[in-house]
Amino acid sequence: TTVFVLNGPSLNLLGTREPEIYGHDTLDDIAGRLEDRARELDLNIDMRQSNHEGHLVDWLHEAQAYDARAVILNAGAFTHTSIALHDAIKAIRTPVIEVHLSNPHAREEFRHTSFVGRAARGTIAGFGALSYALALEAAAQF
Ligand code: DQA
Repeated sequence: TTVFVLNGPSLNLLGTREPEIYGHDTLDDIAGRLEDRARELDLNIDMRQSNHEGHLVDWLHEAQAYDARAVILNAGAFTHTSIALHDAIKAIRTPVIEVHLSNPHAREEFRHTSFVGRAARGTIAGFGALSYALALEAAAQF
């Protein structure tokens, strides 16, 4: 079975984007490590990134249609703005794990609300690229 790993705006720039906050790993680096661990867990990883909110909505629906084991979702800034993503998570039975590289609660006030987190099964934040790996361990238990 497959775990969808969906990434939102500006996460395509990981590696060079504010590395003091988000680290030096690129999204491909993270994908590579997830794939290694997924192989051990007998899972497949479908890693995607979009800067467009509607693509993320479509992919959440697709995860259910595809009978994915879980979705690991780093919605980037849409986390804090998107009722559409909130509703899409609510609309599917597939469990969604919210992840963040940084810890939004330790940052600006505008990052303290998560419309994703209010609908997700759980949240892992603040551990850099390891947040994704921890989310995969959770997904393997579903
Ligand atoms: C982020 C945190 C968000 O607040 C921010 O808008 C991002 C990245 C993270 O992974 O730490 O784009 O989701």
